[in-house]
Amino acid sequence: MCRKICEVVTIDGPAGVGKSTVSRGLARQLHFTYLDTGAMYRAVAYGCQQLRVDVKNQEAVKAVLPDFSISLQPANNADDNVLVFLNNQEISMHIRTAEIGNLASQVSVHEPVRTNLTALQQVIAKKGKIVAEGRDTGTVVFPEAAWKFYLDATPESRAKRRILQLRNDGQQVDEKLILSMINERDKADSERSLAPLKPSPEAIYIDSTTMDAKAVIALMRSYIIH
Ligand code: DC
Repeated sequence: MCRKICEVVTIDGPAGVGKSTVSRGLARQLHFTYLDTGAMYRAVAYGCQQLRVDVKNQEAVKAVLPDFSISLQPANNADDNVLVFLNNQEISMHIRTAEIGNLASQVSVHEPVRTNLTALQQVIAKKGKIVAEGRDTGTVVFPEAAWKFYLDATPESRAKRRILQLRNDGQQVDEKLILSMINERDKADSERSLAPLKPSPEAIYIDSTTMDAKAVIALMRSYIIH
């Protein structure tokens, strides 16, 4: 009856909550496609950075948007990270930095950017069988999705995970700085006027502060009839 809509799962939540790991894992188990909407905002931010466009300047960002062609491809690597292309150039690694994350957050406040990327996400989802992750996938992009989740965790526990990740990558970490960056990003993403980060009223709220990804995925699956 509602095949297209019934085959969309949305997972929204703040930065560093583990949405990507959970979304990728859930998509793999359901044999759905993982749609990383944050990667698209990051791609726009990266494109602006390359062209030296000020991400705070909406008119300047709007002017270069038509020059950006963004596409995502499922990767065949072990961790299932998506491959991200900007104008046919693979930029997957370049966009996974804290700097691009912050620029993405700034670029995401602009209406032309949101309208453009929301439309692109909806076109991709027309094929069905999607697990979409982001900030507004349950509220704005796929308001009629069959399964909506809001994944949350305390800023302290998110900072702790991020610190571990960075240390595992051999990087030096300033713990206080990481926590303050997380708090700043939460504030920016949830206080913007367009499509702010907030749980959809229909979303199932999951506090993953004391849960690992496997447990979160199992809990989500228990809600999904597939
Ligand atoms: O999930 P992420 O860290 O890759 O997202 C980067 C930024 O992109 C995030 O801080 C806000 C923006 N974003 C958004 O506004 N809407 C989305 N659906 C996904 C990301």
